[in-house]
Amino acid sequence: MTTFPPGFLWGAATSSYQIEGAAAEDGRLPSIWDTFCATPGKVDNGDTGAVAADHYHRYREDVGLMTELGLGAYRFSIAWPRVQPLGSGAVNQRGLDFYRRLVDTLLEQDIEPWPTLYHWDLPQPLEDAGGWPERDTALRFAEYAAIVHEALADRVSHWTTLNEPWCSAYLGYATGRHAPGRREPAAAVRAAHHLLLGHGLAVQAMPEARVGITLNLTHVTPASTAEQDLDAARRIDGMQNRFFLDPVLTAAYPDDVVEDLAPITGFDHVQEGDLKTVAAPIDFLGVNYYSPMLVGHGTTPSPSAYVGSEHVRQHDGGRQRTSIGWEIDARGLLDLLLRLERDYPAIPLYITENGAAFEDEVHDVARVAYLDGHVRACAEAAAHGVPLKGYFAWSLLDNFEWSYGYAQRFGIVHVDYATQRRTLKDSARWYADVIRRGGL
Ligand code: FCB
Repeated sequence: MTTFPPGFLWGAATSSYQIEGAAAEDGRLPSIWDTFCATPGKVDNGDTGAVAADHYHRYREDVGLMTELGLGAYRFSIAWPRVQPLGSGAVNQRGLDFYRRLVDTLLEQDIEPWPTLYHWDLPQPLEDAGGWPERDTALRFAEYAAIVHEALADRVSHWTTLNEPWCSAYLGYATGRHAPGRREPAAAVRAAHHLLLGHGLAVQAMPEARVGITLNLTHVTPASTAEQDLDAARRIDGMQNRFFLDPVLTAAYPDDVVEDLAPITGFDHVQEGDLKTVAAPIDFLGVNYYSPMLVGHGTTPSPSAYVGSEHVRQHDGGRQRTSIGWEIDARGLLDLLLRLERDYPAIPLYITENGAAFEDEVHDVARVAYLDGHVRACAEAAAHGVPLKGYFAWSLLDNFEWSYGYAQRFGIVHVDYATQRRTLKDSARWYADVIRRGGL
C-alpha cells in the first residue's frame, strides 16, 4: 500500500469561468474571456463560458458530488467580474453572496474551501485600460483581494492569489492563445511582473491569512548533451519555472533570464522595492503539473510563449499523449517535486492541479491510469521528504477548456452539456476509493 503523511489533503479543482456560466447574472459584467470568446476564430467551435457547467445554479448538487467522493477540500476560483464588475470601485454584494453560499455549503459538508482569487477572468474595463502590462492592474488586484478577504475571512483559511501567472502573461500577451489575445512580447514580460507584484500586494492586503500562489511548473530536459540543447533547457526552465519561483521565494529575478530577455525588453518597469513586495512571506506553494518538456535548439512556431528564446524547439519525448496532445510522464512530477525541495527548501507544497483530457467516456481507463501514476509519484516524493501536503485533481467536472472549448474533457465527473446531467466517471470512483483508504 502506498501511504501518505497524516493530514494529507485530498481535493479537486475547478475555476470560475470554466464552470459557472451565468455570465450576465446578478450584476456580473464581462471579463477578458467573454470578449475573447466573442471574437471569431479564437475558441474552437465558437464555444463560450456563458453557460459552461451551469455551476452557478447547480453548486449545491456539485457540493453533493464532492461529499459523495469524500473530498477534504475544494479548490475553486472567485470571479473578479462578479465581485467588482468594473475591476475597481463599487462592490457587487450579489456576486459576493454567491461565494458566501458556496463556502457555507462546503463547510456544512466539512469540505475545506480553497479559493483562488484570480484564475484569468480579468474585468474587461481593466484590459481596456491596458491590462496586466500596466502597473495599475496590480494595485487594483490587491484592492479586490482585500474586498474578498474581508467578506470570507471568517470562513476561509487557505487563500491562493493567482493561478498560473505564466499563462496569463505569456499566453495572454505573447502568443495570444489566451485572452486578451495580444501578441506583444515586451508587454508580456511587463504583465508577468505586474502579476507577481499584484500577488505580493495581495498577500500584504490579507493580514493573518494563510496565503499561497499556484504556478504551472514543469520538468525540463535537454534533447542532448550538446551545448545548444543544454542552453535551450536552461532557458525554458528559466522562463517557465525560475522566472516565477525566484521572485516569489527569493526576491530576485534570475540573472540569466533577465539577460536572455534583454533583446526584447529591459526591466525598467521594475521599481525599487517591488521584489521585496513580490516576496512577501507565503505559507505554501501550489504546483500545477501536467506534462514534462524535452527541448533543444531549433525553430518554434511563431509567436513563441518563450519570449527571447524563440529559437528553442520542443521535442517529441516519444511518450503516450492525452487527447489534448500533452505527453504523459509521472516521473516528471517526481523529478519536479524533488527539485523544488532541493532548490527552494521548506516551503509546504500542494499539487493544486493534475489531471488529463481524454475522450468522452465514463469508463475512463486512461484517466485512471494517469491519475494513479501521478498520485504514486506524490507518495514517492513525500517518502523522500518533500513537504507535500495535498493533492487536487483537475478537474472535478468536465468544463470549458479555454481555447479548446468543450471538446477537451478533464473531469472526473462527466457533464452532459445538453442536459447538465452529471455522472461519476470510473476515475471519480477510483479517486473516492483512494481518499477513503488514504492511499493506493
Ligand atoms: C491549467 C489551467 C486550468 C485547466 C488546466 C487543464 O493550465 O489552470 O484552468 O485549463 O490547465
